[in-house]
Amino acid sequence: MTITDDLRSLPLPPGSFGLPVIGETFSFLRNPNFVQQRQQQYGQIYKTHVFGCPTVVIIGAEANRFLFSNENRYFADGVSQSAPPQAKLLMGTGAIIMQTGDKHLQQRKLLAQAFQPRALAGYVDIMTATTYNYIETWERTGNLNWYLEIRKYTLDVACKLLVGIDVDNDFGKLYETWGKGLLSFPIPLPWTKFSKALRSRKLLLAKIEAIILERQQESTTKQDVLGLLLQARDENGNSFNLEELKEQLLILLFAGHDTLSSSLTALCLLLAQNPQVKEAVRAEQMQLGLNQPLTLVLKQMTYLEQVLKEVLRLYSPASGPRKVIKSCEFNGYLIPQGWQVFYHPAATHQDSSIYTQPEDFDPERFAPPRSEDKQKSMSYIPFGGGVRECLGREFAKLEMKLFAALLVRDYDWELLPGQNVDMVMLPTPHPRDGLKVKFWRRDSR
Ligand code: HEM
Repeated sequence: MTITDDLRSLPLPPGSFGLPVIGETFSFLRNPNFVQQRQQQYGQIYKTHVFGCPTVVIIGAEANRFLFSNENRYFADGVSQSAPPQAKLLMGTGAIIMQTGDKHLQQRKLLAQAFQPRALAGYVDIMTATTYNYIETWERTGNLNWYLEIRKYTLDVACKLLVGIDVDNDFGKLYETWGKGLLSFPIPLPWTKFSKALRSRKLLLAKIEAIILERQQESTTKQDVLGLLLQARDENGNSFNLEELKEQLLILLFAGHDTLSSSLTALCLLLAQNPQVKEAVRAEQMQLGLNQPLTLVLKQMTYLEQVLKEVLRLYSPASGPRKVIKSCEFNGYLIPQGWQVFYHPAATHQDSSIYTQPEDFDPERFAPPRSEDKQKSMSYIPFGGGVRECLGREFAKLEMKLFAALLVRDYDWELLPGQNVDMVMLPTPHPRDGLKVKFWRRDSR
């Protein structure tokens, strides 16, 4: 460890490393209040030990600014630096989240071409048609376990828009098995979650490769993510090769699927728990006019935008680790080289000096003159920040908006009694019993 003289005298952050070897990994993954409980005990910066590495958790706008403005100086961006070994084996080394420095920026520029406003506008029709398909099925089903259904829906939208395929059972199962391996123990025996996930990764990549090769033979270019990435070039004319492209697509699927499933489920839960907000969202839709093409009115859904922001404030599904590449000081504490740092959007969003009654669901907090998220930079970070800010942010916001608008216009839902809606954290936050609802078309009751 290299620690310069001026840092040597600083104390480590308060906190506990937990048990030998496993540290506090299990409670970090399973206890939804892990971060908040320790925050109450130790404050906005504390140490722990997770995923085999001494770790500092930092919370709050100042901490986020410190982290995001010192990437590549004190902190190495990229999962490759801090992910557990099984995650690295399952994700591979080619995709953007594994890159650091210039290589990361170069890949980001290429990938961004599939997420520009013009590209997004081209995705609206498929998103809308797919959403209607699912909504109509849910109407026929009536009583739903919505989280599971939403997972199918988000995977289907992602498969259609990323690689232009309808998700079939085979692809869906392979993807779920692969995903389960990411947090498993890397035991290479044939029946373990890890080995099954490795096999699924091979098969998924083979399927994606076949799709890419087929596309390369076609004379017309589809305007989905794959179509745009096949055409994407940086300023020096570089493009993705086949190996890179396969892994990028798998990681895009992963980055967008669990996060959106969690956020859409949280949206449905919060609207069921707050019927007055659901009514206000519906009133805005009626006022905009149901006969208008959606694309024309999407930008005018101001209240819905506040609701979605509030959903993401309360239930931020993602974060990212950073490896400390050079020892540094924050708030009087030493953050040593070789450790990892976690920032925490959900805990940042509970800061009562920024958000009035932060535990409340209150979409109006984002409307002027309150505009609570605008008081301090980096106090609202559901999509992260800095060089690794979410690439799919506008895609996610678009899907959430379309989904919510189409749901409230013609449909309604209420929670079924006798269920546990406390949040489970893995793979991303969702209600323990999966959100059981009664779902119906409004004019059919
Ligand atoms: C509500 C939905 C979503 C949320 C809350 C979310 C959140 C995040 C966060 C917090 C990060 C930063 C991780 C870090 O700091 O290391 C991130 C990165 C990323 N997200 Fe999202 N995400 C969402 C949806 C999506 C979608 C739909 C896609 C693509 C289709 C996507 C693609 C990515 C990619 C590629 C990165 C890595 C960027 C990089 O390494 O430069 N995300 N996301």
